[in-house]
Amino acid sequence: MGIKHILESQQFDRDILFYLFERADELRKNSSMSLNGKILATLFYEPSTRTRLSFESAMIRLGGKVISTENAKEFSSAIKGESIEDSIRVISGYSDCIVMRHNEGGAAFIASKVSKVPIVNAGDGKGQHPTQAILDVYTIYKEIKRLDKLKIAMVGDLSTGRTVRSLCYLLGKFNEIEIIFVSPENLRIGEDIKEYLKKHNVKFVEKENLNDILPEVDVIYMTRIQKERMNMDDYEKANGKYIISKENFELINENSIIMHPLPHVEEIDLSVDVEQKDKRIAYFRQAENGLYIRMALLDLIINNRYS
Ligand code: CP
Repeated sequence: MGIKHILESQQFDRDILFYLFERADELRKNSSMSLNGKILATLFYEPSTRTRLSFESAMIRLGGKVISTENAKEFSSAIKGESIEDSIRVISGYSDCIVMRHNEGGAAFIASKVSKVPIVNAGDGKGQHPTQAILDVYTIYKEIKRLDKLKIAMVGDLSTGRTVRSLCYLLGKFNEIEIIFVSPENLRIGEDIKEYLKKHNVKFVEKENLNDILPEVDVIYMTRIQKERMNMDDYEKANGKYIISKENFELINENSIIMHPLPHVEEIDLSVDVEQKDKRIAYFRQAENGLYIRMALLDLIINNRYS
């Protein structure tokens, strides 16, 4: 079955993921003008560095062009009261694909109902961030060389973090996965994700002590406490509780990696020199992988390659 819109991680099975990994590797090595003459619209109602710029770079590298409104909440007609549906009806007449980030969960689904062109969910509130999850599993595959038999710790804000939610949905496609959730008590992983993991035979536990589990995992997936998505009381209870610093960094196995969707703030407290040189720091390679995965994704949906 083809993929028209990219709305949630569950749409992707193992076959299509490995197709995307191969295509991303190919596009990293050889240039392509497969989107020559096409136009991508980027519509971001929330801030972004990596997602917006990597999608825009991906489009340009494939020979396409980009139209953009970077702060759509203020600089699009949303400020005059225009609905998402009306904005999308109009923008889908100007472009061949729309990449959209929105503060409301479910916004990408609403957009997909009225769009004439593919919609890519670039993050919807506390919902999902599926293209981040695809670049995350691509990074794990490149770094650890497997996606089955994996032990992964997910650390930090597991309650409002859409990257963790989308990643859990994708890990459910693989075998013998063990997840250790480490989070402040007020920011635990949601029951819906736990139900999904149980249904897909993914083992998981919730732990409180980060240092205890650092030596035993292949991947430490750190996340930021998202101040912008919670009240000050919850933020103060959670902030600073889980940090990777020079004190506990050496507990991490030499073949394991630290990932982070970025931006990171104080939950990673390592020197620029360590971040630059230590191969266990995978998050900058992870961000770069996003470019090639997004090239593969745009090529897939705009050229309708997987139907
Ligand atoms: N990982 C991620 O979504 O980063 P940005 O918010 O910078 O796009």
